[in-house]
Amino acid sequence: MEKTLYERLGGAEAIRKLANDIAENHMANPLIKTRFDIVEDMDKTKELVFQFICAGTGGPQAYTGRDMLTAHTGMNISEQEFIAVVDDILKAMDKNNLGEAEKKDMLAIGYSLKDEIIRV
Ligand code: HEM
Repeated sequence: MEKTLYERLGGAEAIRKLANDIAENHMANPLIKTRFDIVEDMDKTKELVFQFICAGTGGPQAYTGRDMLTAHTGMNISEQEFIAVVDDILKAMDKNNLGEAEKKDMLAIGYSLKDEIIRV
């Protein structure tokens, strides 16, 4: 049987690292940093992003956060900011030595969520 994306990303431990690196990239990215400066509990957001990736790629973890529309409603996120987040995801994947096929799959998942995140 084909491996799940969860397995190809390296499972829970690797995805934990990936989620933390994505968050670190956002907090250092001048295009979106201010969005995250005001988040009260970044550890909780990191945990939810970890769960979201795991649950969305075939892992056994349950996602306990809000759906994407609810989580991003009222922020009026721009297309530029959305691309900045996607770039940060790919950069974190490079840092963690993940492959091109995995990057393409994550890119496709990210892109599929755009209407629930941009300008909502
Ligand atoms: C592929 C794109 C994205 C994904 C998969 C994603 C995923 C998530 C997840 C899983 C959460 C936690 C949900 C919760 O708090 O219940 C979250 C929260 C958040 N996201 Fe996104 N996000 C994306 C794009 C963006 C963009 C473009 C921005 C703005 C630049 C953004 C800003 C935030 C902020 C500020 C929070 C924390 C909300 C709070 O604490 O109230 N996200 N996101």
